[in-house]
Amino acid sequence: MVLTVKALMVELSRQLAQADLFYGHGMDNPEDEAAELVFFAAGLQHDQAPGCYAELLDDVSIGRARALVQRRIDERLPAAYLTQRMWFAGHEFYVDERVLVPRSPIAELIHAQFQPWLQPECVRRVLDIGTGSGCIAIACALAFPEAQVDAADVSPDALAVTQINIERHQLTARMHAVCSDVFSAVSADRYDLIVSNPPYVSHAEMDELPVEYLREPELGLRAGPDGLDVVRRILAEAEVHLQPHGLLVVEVGDSEVTLAEAYPTVPFIWLDFEYGGGGVFVLTAAQLKEHRAALAAGVA
Ligand SMILES: C[S@@+](CC[C@H](N)C(=O)[O-])C[C@H]1O[C@@H](n2cnc3c(N)ncnc32)[C@H](O)[C@@H]1O
Repeated sequence: MVLTVKALMVELSRQLAQADLFYGHGMDNPEDEAAELVFFAAGLQHDQAPGCYAELLDDVSIGRARALVQRRIDERLPAAYLTQRMWFAGHEFYVDERVLVPRSPIAELIHAQFQPWLQPECVRRVLDIGTGSGCIAIACALAFPEAQVDAADVSPDALAVTQINIERHQLTARMHAVCSDVFSAVSADRYDLIVSNPPYVSHAEMDELPVEYLREPELGLRAGPDGLDVVRRILAEAEVHLQPHGLLVVEVGDSEVTLAEAYPTVPFIWLDFEYGGGGVFVLTAAQLKEHRAALAAGVA
């Protein structure tokens, strides 16, 4: 069989488009997923595009790509679990079903070194709560080359993946994977930046999720009746773990409205994103201190 890279991408993107799939794991359309699966199957690098589109593929690569697309359709697996890779903030990460597929808009903030909310030269210690693959923590370590970064998660399975990525990015000297229920086992030292993409899906929303999300670990998504179980604990405890100039950055996605209603006196600053996504707030250490009583009262 003689097929070019481009012809196979077109064939497979049509097949994906005709299937009843949901795109919400870093790629939002069948064309991008088909491209990723063809490139993966053929061992091509994405920076070879578009020059490689006219190249002829061998039968093995064609068969492999078609099989991956069939699994994507039959099993409704996110493409990243089929390839065991995903890019975040410009870096490649190993992923499997022990961790969520990286997709947080926090990548944009990391790219900007959290300016204007932080002075990059002041960032010496960073904590990522609910680190999963370690994508946010590792991207922070790469954005702040002088910083020590702790990557915390309550799931030992997730932390095994975190550790793989720490080692792949050669960051073992500056990063520590910590098994911690929110702040329970993190360092006693104060951080300049605490960042988190915690679980924030309510019970009712869990029942409505597309099948692809149910392939991800439930611990990474489900967060109580209103989706705020973990966020409330972060808000109540963050102040004592932050430097006076420190910053808390948390993604809560569609739980933004619920959170704002639950804490009507707290001045959450909700951020805008150029490349999509939302539901991310920042609070300074000073704001956490000023609203300490309201934040403490939020934990039932
Ligand atoms: C939404 S996932 C985010 C993963 C990763 N930070 C990312 O952006 O792709 C949330 C993560 O929080 C972890 N988690 C859930 N409950 C936690 C808790 N009480 N303490 C620490 N981590 C928790 C889950 O295991 C999961 O890895």
